[in-house]
Amino acid sequence: MTTENKPAYSPGLAGVIAGETQICWVDPNAGLAYRGYDIHEMGEKATFEEVAYLLLNGELPTAAQLKQFTSAIGAERSLPEPVTQMLRLLPANTHPMDVVRTGVSMLAPFDKDLNDQSHDANIRKAIRLIAKVSTIIADGYRISQKQDPVPEKPELTLAANFFYKLTGEVPPDWKTRMMDTIFNLYADHEFNASTFAARVTASTLADMYAAVTSACGTLKGPLHGGANEESMKMLDEVKTADRAEAWLMDKLGKKAKIMGFGHRVYKTGDSRVPIMREIGRDLGKRTGKEQWVPICEELERVMEREKTLYCNVDLYAAPVLAMLGFASELNTPIFAASRVAGWCSHVVEQHDHNRLIRPRSLYTGPEDRKYPGPPK
Ligand code: COA
Repeated sequence: MTTENKPAYSPGLAGVIAGETQICWVDPNAGLAYRGYDIHEMGEKATFEEVAYLLLNGELPTAAQLKQFTSAIGAERSLPEPVTQMLRLLPANTHPMDVVRTGVSMLAPFDKDLNDQSHDANIRKAIRLIAKVSTIIADGYRISQKQDPVPEKPELTLAANFFYKLTGEVPPDWKTRMMDTIFNLYADHEFNASTFAARVTASTLADMYAAVTSACGTLKGPLHGGANEESMKMLDEVKTADRAEAWLMDKLGKKAKIMGFGHRVYKTGDSRVPIMREIGRDLGKRTGKEQWVPICEELERVMEREKTLYCNVDLYAAPVLAMLGFASELNTPIFAASRVAGWCSHVVEQHDHNRLIRPRSLYTGPEDRKYPGPPK
């Protein structure tokens, strides 16, 4: 075997700086900023379109730019007819994350800018993807439920229109505000696994649809975006706050992974949790489902005591989305409907300053074996 000096190895790339970005900063001590703006204030006040514009373009929009960007997204919401037909061909029990991954992949050849990786063409594709991912999720879900897709309402924000298309109900102002905040919290998180997958794909100079397809596949896993669906299964199992400690001690005794807890970067808590917890409390009062937040808080208390582990945003996103009336298999697609803004922004940045992402591996297999000849 040849020998070479290999750089230090970090399993799971933990702590490894794998590239530069100007889009998002995750502070391990519970901070999160998009393009330098603290998410906490903006998350609760801005529309998702404002945040998506900021992520994509680097600056907050003027009123005129926001109007133009919002109507550009509104104009791109509908799907090519063959994509809608494809949604009708999928088995009704297809997981909505598989629907969105397949839908994004199928959209690619319908985009005339597909193979133009210039900055301007990438921004145009990003607007189309941000608009259409929501439609694939909403229409795909309704079709799977044997319901007709609901036509767009262009006057609604993307997040409110998404709610409307899924439920058939135009959300009141307070719900629209909540949907925008939830979307804003999920919009980007630097080099998380799905964004990194998108950047790896983009770094080969593959197109934005290929990158977002990779990202959708990666988001599905329960250690990443899939955790918000798994968290709801867990909360349904726990049922009441007084059962939470015994339930958790049993799971920890069996060395189970507790969904909605732990994070690769945050070690003292997830910066998005306080906002999501407050939304949960508010929704609990509005819907009369006040059991969820106390269950989560009890799990938090016992997890900190037993493992010094803190919850992540997916723990609270799960009951929030349930109280908003969404089926739990839509939790991860809702994450995708927002994160697509981050994915596309990272593809734009990757293509604007590209270098192929191609790390090395540490070979640990057998060495110096002689081929014995074809099997006899
Ligand atoms: N439940 C139980 N134990 C957990 C845990 C969890 N959710 N998250 C981490 N741990 C434990 C690990 O088992 C490990 O213990 P050990 O040292 O005794 O082996 C220790 O905490 C350190 O965790 P580690 O595996 O190094 O964390 P990671 O950075 O590799 O993984 C996650 C991060 C997010 C994948 C992990 O915390 C996890 O699986 N969480 C549950 C899924 C989830 O909520 N994902 C959404 C993330 S936003």
